[in-house]
Amino acid sequence: MIQDIDIKDLKRITDLVYAKHGYDFRNYAMSSFKRRMLRILEVWGLNIESLLNKLADSTIFIDDFLDEMTVNVTEMFRDPGFWRLLREEIIPGVMLNNKQFKIWHAGCSSGEEVISMNIMLHEMGVKENVKIFATDLDKSILDRARSATYSLKNMETNEKNYVRFQGKTALKDYYTEENGRAVMKKDLLSNVVFQKHDLVLGEAFAKFDLVLCRNVMIYFNQALQNEVLKKFHGSLNKYGYLAIGAKESMIWCDYANRFIVVNQEERIFKKIRD
Ligand SMILES: C[S@@+](CC[C@H](N)C(=O)[O-])C[C@H]1O[C@@H](n2cnc3c(N)ncnc32)[C@H](O)[C@@H]1O
Repeated sequence: MIQDIDIKDLKRITDLVYAKHGYDFRNYAMSSFKRRMLRILEVWGLNIESLLNKLADSTIFIDDFLDEMTVNVTEMFRDPGFWRLLREEIIPGVMLNNKQFKIWHAGCSSGEEVISMNIMLHEMGVKENVKIFATDLDKSILDRARSATYSLKNMETNEKNYVRFQGKTALKDYYTEENGRAVMKKDLLSNVVFQKHDLVLGEAFAKFDLVLCRNVMIYFNQALQNEVLKKFHGSLNKYGYLAIGAKESMIWCDYANRFIVVNQEERIFKKIRD
């Protein structure tokens, strides 16, 4: 079993993945990237050279590599206090200016964050006023998001979060059980477009009233966090809101002074300047 990978080998992997497949992990935080690589080598029974050979030879293998490489852990109503704040302050704040508005979930993983958003908007009676754009780098995770089908075990955690969010009903009302899986009601994705998009190499989009990018930049180094935060600034309407993860920060962003802090604990910011 491989115990360690040195920086030189990590660099060989990221350089090859960039040159051959056009994915740029060169500015991902080294420690978590290394942990993922060690896992890939162990799970697939590879050493550095055989991994490099596979990456060089195969265009199919890259999808599996990306799926394994990215951390996809997510939950519905993750951090319930954050969702209560969205319901009680942020969404009403957005609606002061626009009755119709647009939300971008960047790094949406298997879609639980998007489902939570739409359950909340439905309970607020405003879902039909909202268009949602949900993106991720990982093609297989987007397929899972589109299917809106989850394990019943995960639904237990989701249900607990929903109770702490103080939703209007029970989470069970939003899905049916089929073949031992929870299938979310189709209508919950009626206003959502899922699309593959790379936050590192992709362009900013125009223009959203709320951008959520939670628990994604934690895997980036400071320089990359800065670049991606600037893209979010460019993708927001003036007075639009940006929500990042509880362990993430605006501190490295050259544009930090173009935002004000709306809630420091829940990491919600408002763009005040172009
Ligand atoms: C831990 S999940 C976060 C899911 C959700 N936002 C949440 O907070 O529960 C991180 C997601 O970021 C995605 N990701 C990583 N690098 C990315 C990139 N360069 N562009 C777009 N998405 C990326 C991963 O594929 C993964 O699905």
